[in-house]
Amino acid sequence: MDLRNIRKEFGGWRGARSWTALTDVDLSVETGEIVGILGPSGCGKSTLLNIVAGLETQYDGEFTIQGKTIEQQIEAGFRVAYVFQEARLLPWRTVRGNIEFALKASKFPQNESRVRVDRILELVELSKFAHFYPQQLSGGMQQRVSIARAFAIEPDILLMDEPFSALDEMTAQHLRESLLKIWSAFRTTIVFVSHNALEASFLADRVMIMSHGPAGTIRQEISLAGVRRPRSYDDLDLIEKSRAVVSALRKHSGRSDPVHA
Ligand SMILES: Nc1ncnc2c1ncn2[C@@H]1O[C@H](COP(=O)(O)OP(=O)(O)O)[C@@H](O)[C@H]1O
Ligand SMILES: [Mg+2]
Repeated sequence: MDLRNIRKEFGGWRGARSWTALTDVDLSVETGEIVGILGPSGCGKSTLLNIVAGLETQYDGEFTIQGKTIEQQIEAGFRVAYVFQEARLLPWRTVRGNIEFALKASKFPQNESRVRVDRILELVELSKFAHFYPQQLSGGMQQRVSIARAFAIEPDILLMDEPFSALDEMTAQHLRESLLKIWSAFRTTIVFVSHNALEASFLADRVMIMSHGPAGTIRQEISLAGVRRPRSYDDLDLIEKSRAVVSALRKHSGRSDPVHA
C-alpha cells in the first residue's frame, strides 16, 4: 500500500478554525511487512490508521493499494482488521461466539466457521476458554481474543492502535510473542501504533517516527530488518535498535515546542 502526500484537516466548516492533523505523509508498506508508528500524543497516528482502514475518507493526497483505492479494494474483497487498546468484545457472546460473529460479518461460509475458530484459538492458546464469556477473562486474555478475532477473518491488513498499552508488561510481552507467532503463520501485513520503543522494535520490520511540527508528519524511519526473527527481548541487536528508536523519539518529540514542554 502507498500513501502519498497525505494531508488531513479537521473542522474548518462555517468559519470554524481548521486543524491540520497530518501533512506530507508518505508511507509505503509491502505485503507481509510489519510497520510500527511511534510519536507523541496528538501527532496524528490514529488518524493515519483510520485513513488506511478506509474509515476516514476525507483527506488530500493519494492512498492506493496495488493501484486501487481502499474503497475499490474492499469492494473486491480486501479485508481490514482493527485491534484497539480495549478488546471491544461483545459481552453477551462467548469467546467462540465473538470470533464466529466476526467471521459471519466478513461473509465466511458458516460451515467453515468451527474449524476456523478452533485453529485460531489453538494458535493463541485459548482453546480451553472457547466457552467463556469476556467478563470471565482477564484483560490480557480478552485482548488475546480480540487478536484472534482479527486474524480469524484472514485480513489483508491488520491495523492495531496501541494494542498492548493497557496491559502489564509481562502480559504484554507474552501477547507480542503470540502475535508474532500467528503472524509467521499468516504473514499478514501489519501497521500498528505504539508508545513503547521496545515494543515497536520487537514487532516491526520498520519503525516510523512521527511528530507534530505543528501538523503530524513522519520524521524518521528506522529499519529493524537486520534483527533476526523469531525476535527475542534479550537480543542485543534489538536492544540497540530500540535505543536508537528512543533517541529518535526524543529528537523529534517537540520538546523544544513551548506548547508541549
Ligand atoms: N474527529 C476529529 N475532529 C477534530 N479533530 C480531531 C479529530 N480526530 C483527531 N483530531 C485531532 O487531530 C490530531 C491528531 O489526532 P490523533 O490522530 O488521534 O492523534 P494520536 O493518535 O497520534 O494521538 C489531534 O490534535 C486531535 O485533536
Ligand atoms: Mg491515537
